[in-house]
Amino acid sequence: MKVVGAYAGAILLMGLASLAAAGPIAPPPKASLGLPPVPVPPENPITSAKVELGRMLFMDRRLSHNNTLSCGMCHVPEQGFTSNELGTAVGLEGQSVRRNSPTIFNVAYVEQLFHDGREFSLENQVWGPLLAGNEMANPSMGYVVEKIRLLPEYKGRFERTFGRGPNAANVGQALAAYQRTVLSANSRFDRWYYGKRKDALNAEEQAGFRLFAGKGGCAACHTIGPRHALFSDQDFHNTGIGYANSMQLVRRHKVQLAPGVHTEVTDKDLEAFEPPIPDVGRYEVTLDPADSWKYRTPGLRNVALTSPYMHDGSLATLEDVVEFYDRGGIANPHLDPLVKPLGLSGAEKRQLVAFLRALTGDNADRLAAEARRAQPPDTPPERDPAAVYRRR
Ligand code: HEC
Ligand code: HEC
Repeated sequence: MKVVGAYAGAILLMGLASLAAAGPIAPPPKASLGLPPVPVPPENPITSAKVELGRMLFMDRRLSHNNTLSCGMCHVPEQGFTSNELGTAVGLEGQSVRRNSPTIFNVAYVEQLFHDGREFSLENQVWGPLLAGNEMANPSMGYVVEKIRLLPEYKGRFERTFGRGPNAANVGQALAAYQRTVLSANSRFDRWYYGKRKDALNAEEQAGFRLFAGKGGCAACHTIGPRHALFSDQDFHNTGIGYANSMQLVRRHKVQLAPGVHTEVTDKDLEAFEPPIPDVGRYEVTLDPADSWKYRTPGLRNVALTSPYMHDGSLATLEDVVEFYDRGGIANPHLDPLVKPLGLSGAEKRQLVAFLRALTGDNADRLAAEARRAQPPDTPPERDPAAVYRRR
């Protein structure tokens, strides 16, 4: 008994020691009405210090090689944590990224990250954009860590938060902890469906819900549970968008010339300066031909804020998305059998869109403002991070 007691005491002391270094563990962020409890990996508990550090890293343009591009410039807080002006992302020095920036809202629940599900933890995911040559283009993990070490805004912060200076693991942990707090629900739909407030949705939106769950067949993939809804089955499906791209069925593209000013170009125009980047979707992860052109079902919360849509941003509005499904997606050998022509009337299409617009959470503005306030100055480090071994 005594031994057990001493052992337990030692464990408690060890626990307290690590707590002292890490600061108080904040209660897991409280998911609002409509969301399940937030999954938090035991090895990366959420603390307020960690979240604040992660938020600053997320907004820091100096995390890119030439100090210009932050995570928050593709996942723009005021644009639904995505880029409303870009179908596909644009990385360092204007380089093309082949896919649409997904939103960070509720990313805590995504089990397989990226449109093709190739990454499984937010902690590891960050190294994708940080090192991709056409995104933040850093030469190595060590370079990023050394740069953070040199920036005065981070002085002492990793030490206070993790009990040690920055390294490849805790940079990912801080960014992951922050992103797990970017939760948004308690939408009018949630207040109506889960909160049982009869007047939270109007008649048109309620009709839209019935179509979503019934005739439209949407909820077969965009799941609504009895106690909460992620609007995603976390699975991968072929709706034909990827197929159409690969097979060059999409002939016209909307190109932005200046904010709000668009023109249409054809594939022929585009070939003149850049060949299309191949994208076979889930197949690239599993190497199973049956997975060709499958992409993860995105959650639909805040979807009114996160245009344009689909993995390639090829659909500009929710009306376009509903038209797309009404036509039965795009025919191809692997088209998901759940995607088929719906025969919706004009009124039904409007109802469906009205329902999708009722999925906006109650805190999007607050989350955006918090992120913007955390943005540090752009002042580059005083010395070249790569000089670390030369001058120490
Ligand atoms: C150049 C624009 C750009 C930058 C900068 C960028 N991202 Fe992304 N992000 C994207 C795109 C595009 C995807 C989807 C890529 C894919 O599926 O292949 C993505 C995917 C993600 C995902 C997966 C979301 C999901 O639903 O699967 C997360 C999380 C994420 N980014 C976080 C970050 C973080 C953290 C940073 C900074 C370290 C960052 N991003 C920097 C464009 C960007
Ligand atoms: C077979 C499963 C399936 C069905 C049925 C389905 N979806 Fe989807 N939905 C998806 C997948 C997969 C994507 C992502 C496709 C991509 O990225 O190319 C998607 C994308 C979307 C998007 C874009 C979200 C974003 O952030 O880009 C919206 C909106 C949407 N679906 C609404 C609907 C509606 C409305 C219906 C019913 C009319 C419906 N879906 C039926 C699987 C499905």
